[in-house]
Amino acid sequence: MALRNLLRGVIPEDLLTLVPSSFDIIGSRQGAVAIIEIPDELEPYKVEIAEAIRKLNKNIGAVIRRRGARSGPYRLYNYEILIEGPTEVIHKEHGYFIKVDPTKVYFSPRDQSDRAELADMVQDGERVLYLFAGVGPYAVAIAKRRKVRWIYAVELNPWGLKYMVDNVRINKLTSVVPIRADVADFCSAFAAKADRVLMTLPLGAKDYLDAALRCVEDGGYLHFYHTGPEEDPFREAEELVKSLCTGCSIVGRKIVRDYAPHIYKIRIDVKVRRT
Ligand SMILES: C[S@@+](CC[C@H](N)C(=O)[O-])C[C@H]1O[C@@H](n2cnc3c(N)ncnc32)[C@H](O)[C@@H]1O
Repeated sequence: MALRNLLRGVIPEDLLTLVPSSFDIIGSRQGAVAIIEIPDELEPYKVEIAEAIRKLNKNIGAVIRRRGARSGPYRLYNYEILIEGPTEVIHKEHGYFIKVDPTKVYFSPRDQSDRAELADMVQDGERVLYLFAGVGPYAVAIAKRRKVRWIYAVELNPWGLKYMVDNVRINKLTSVVPIRADVADFCSAFAAKADRVLMTLPLGAKDYLDAALRCVEDGGYLHFYHTGPEEDPFREAEELVKSLCTGCSIVGRKIVRDYAPHIYKIRIDVKVRRT
């Protein structure tokens, strides 16, 4: 049953349309946390909304309300706890597990199909550099599907590193190496070359693009995440890449999902050529 229907008679009829039609659930049958955005007009009914969410899904313990946009270097929301409960959960996705506390480190279940698509592009034997790795979900998705040589997964947030180490262990991965570092420092000292580099920081990866391009083997691939307006979502990302690497070609373009009103989160796949 839809959340809105459950709240009929609890919330005045003229406000019912403001009840969100969806919310995020992170976790599994063993325990989950629900994350919802509630407009200010529904402030007096926020606890009733949270209780209705729990009625819809018995696995949910904590219900938390997202406030404002992601901010800060760790790309976190401000959260208001509506119903207390554990916020550290184990999320199940395409045959693997992601342990995470979304109040401490970035994670979005909405990126699941992008992870699957990207993991399918990787070939056995590749060397993968995963920048802005959070709790490491792309590394897990790749390493579960492919016998890669290695994946170095670089993240600044200490909570990201902690959960990444847990995720390597619970998914029994041997090829993933979690690293706590600033991408700028790591890339400038990176002695090896990667066959593939992932830059999963839509708001800010551009500042590290030059450094990341240097880490790619000639003929390798770079996956660059960025944001773009709905009328021309890829133009800026492509121009940024072309301005730094004239020999590079764009071999894939993907709208990952909505980012903000009329703005998409996008990914471009770049074949790196040094001419
Ligand atoms: C948008 S999140 C993506 C996390 C992860 N790849 C995922 O998809 O769940 C970007 C991550 O980059 C990290 N980050 C931001 N600036 C960084 C930097 N300079 N060096 C390393 N990590 C950074 C943030 O802490 C955050 O966890």
